[in-house]
Amino acid sequence: MQNELPFNETMNIKEKIDTLTDDLIRYNFFYHSKDESLIPDEVYDKLYRELINLELEFPQYKRADSPTTQVGYAPLLEFSQKKHNTPMLSLNNIFSAMDQTDVLIQHKELIQFNKRLADALNIPEVSYVATPKYDGVAISLIYHNGVLTSGITRGDGFIGEDVSLNIKTINNIPKVLNVHTPPALLEVRGEILIKTADFIQLNKNQEDLGLKVFANPRNAAAGSLRQLDSNITASRPLHFFAYALLLNKINENCAIKINTYSEQLNFLQTLGFDVGSWYQICHNQNELIAYYENMLLQRDLLPFGIDGVVYKVNNITSQEKLGFVSRAPRFSIAHKFPAQIMETQIIDIEVQVGRTGALTPVARVKPVSVGGVIVSNATLHNQEEIQRKDIHIGDFVYVRRAGDVIPEIVNVILEKRNEKVSKFKMPTLCPVCNSHLIQLEGETIIRCSGGLFCSAQKKQAIIHFASKLAINIDGLGEKIVEQLVENNLIHNIVDIYKLTESNLIQLERFGEKSAYNLITAINNSKNTQFNRLIYALGIRHVGEATAKDLARTFGAFETLMNANTTELMQVNDIGDIVAKSIVDFFSEEHNQNIITQLLNCGIAYDIEASKSNFNENITGKTFVITGTLPNHSRDEVKSLIENLSGKVSNSVSKKTHYVIAGADAGSKLEKATTLGVTIIDEETFLKLIYSEL
Ligand code: IVH
Repeated sequence: MQNELPFNETMNIKEKIDTLTDDLIRYNFFYHSKDESLIPDEVYDKLYRELINLELEFPQYKRADSPTTQVGYAPLLEFSQKKHNTPMLSLNNIFSAMDQTDVLIQHKELIQFNKRLADALNIPEVSYVATPKYDGVAISLIYHNGVLTSGITRGDGFIGEDVSLNIKTINNIPKVLNVHTPPALLEVRGEILIKTADFIQLNKNQEDLGLKVFANPRNAAAGSLRQLDSNITASRPLHFFAYALLLNKINENCAIKINTYSEQLNFLQTLGFDVGSWYQICHNQNELIAYYENMLLQRDLLPFGIDGVVYKVNNITSQEKLGFVSRAPRFSIAHKFPAQIMETQIIDIEVQVGRTGALTPVARVKPVSVGGVIVSNATLHNQEEIQRKDIHIGDFVYVRRAGDVIPEIVNVILEKRNEKVSKFKMPTLCPVCNSHLIQLEGETIIRCSGGLFCSAQKKQAIIHFASKLAINIDGLGEKIVEQLVENNLIHNIVDIYKLTESNLIQLERFGEKSAYNLITAINNSKNTQFNRLIYALGIRHVGEATAKDLARTFGAFETLMNANTTELMQVNDIGDIVAKSIVDFFSEEHNQNIITQLLNCGIAYDIEASKSNFNENITGKTFVITGTLPNHSRDEVKSLIENLSGKVSNSVSKKTHYVIAGADAGSKLEKATTLGVTIIDEETFLKLIYSEL
């Protein structure tokens, strides 16, 4: 990485050390106490090493509060604090040199490390265990007589935060150890993280709920662990990997003799811990290099993020002989991976419109190879992110790539900014269809209001319109809609009613019979109910239940379309956000035209929406839906429940009445079992709905 030093060359050494010390203390504070990275980890490492080198050369300027002699940061005050029985130390880092095109060329520091240990132990070859270096949050778990009693974060290495209630909600941490005669006291250390796939899903959920998205899995894991309300922790997909067992805490009645680190990992696994399947014994330096290079290749394929590998001397007696230096063991080292971050320049910022109408600014950057992949676009997420990171067109920036995740801009290199940069302005109309834009209060996302008209959204809008709970056109599912849109046969929902059998027969996969069936289904859908028609329009925040309330209150399109927010808020359960979304939708001219055209092509609705929205099995009950159900999407089931005034929640608690579980249900199902909540399948749920139970 061509990273410029953040200070000019005229500064004297003492000032350099002071600046570096202050900066690193600040970065540390944000990282450890606020779960926020002000600079990329790779840049931090670089500055940190620079400080170490300067301090070695000029020890007279080394400050007493130097971060090089401190681990982590003072714990947060909201949690009660606990002293570690044995300090939680850190690891020293080594790196490998890369050439211009990101290819590894030298493992000099690794070779030095291995030589140092072989010399100290006075043996020709040292055996190690190499493991991934999990990119998560360190935790210490305490078991008394085999029962999990507490969990403490690293804090400053000596005193950490007591997060016992929270770690007890993590599914894969054993609450009771799998051992006959448990030792009186046992301590296990490891890393809590969020797997990549879970992280992507978590951020999707956060976005759907209009909440803050997390910058990376590490921040999400740290933030989830440090919740004062453990229900929030319970709802996050945290995973624990164990990497150390504190041997001195195993007392006599546990007749286990552990001589090597690999035996320690095996024992941890027997006790019930996940130690991962990626560790390997390496008998010499070449095997360490092979392990490192192999893990580097596999990095993106692993189900979780790693930022390097860790080597530990396998023989415990040798470990003890080597001992510790001030903040780290001498017998172990972290071999960090090369940056997945590179410097480049923003050429332009364009705005894309997604399937749901969300506008996303995207930076076009000068192509650069990041970890072996050419990056030319990077997501900027939203307008706020651009402001927060103070990003301008023309800025020099760091781009980060991690696995399959879309590359993103980490931060601007302000030292390199020149007067040629220009400010980016979000468009005032949709760049695809020119409809006006909506940003709801408290939401960061700006959306196009032309839901029925905007070609970026039309497929989704049409699929929703035709779905079972909406207008219900049998046979007009996702695939067929795609085919019709791609063949230019339909552009919006009105076009559905202009289709003819001869249009369809020309298409692949259509025969006479299927064309006839679809046209019949389309014609049948013309006689519908007002509530279905409202729901079918896909107005944001207007679900099936709200559509019913609106239908009952307003009775006809004309009155509904002219209602203002105050009138709308008279309706049951409609607050200002929903009211505004409805007003925005109907004030968009494109949408008004579509509705007029729909009514003109023969759609007739009656207002006798089902009035029986009480069902003793559902009304007032709380449901959690998990896994994939055989016949209905989660949204369909959700609407069915909400329609009958039941509640759908995202997380399982004692208050949950039913968990509806489908295939591949995960942690929510486990939690329901633990709490004794009734678990039902889709079929049983449908029976509940139709009151057969
Ligand atoms: S062994 C004396 N093994 O990295 C500390 N640490 O940068 C011994 N880490 O504090 C730690 N994966 O939080 C070890 N496989 C692994 C690890 C690992 C991640 C973390 C750990 C440690 C930090 C040091």
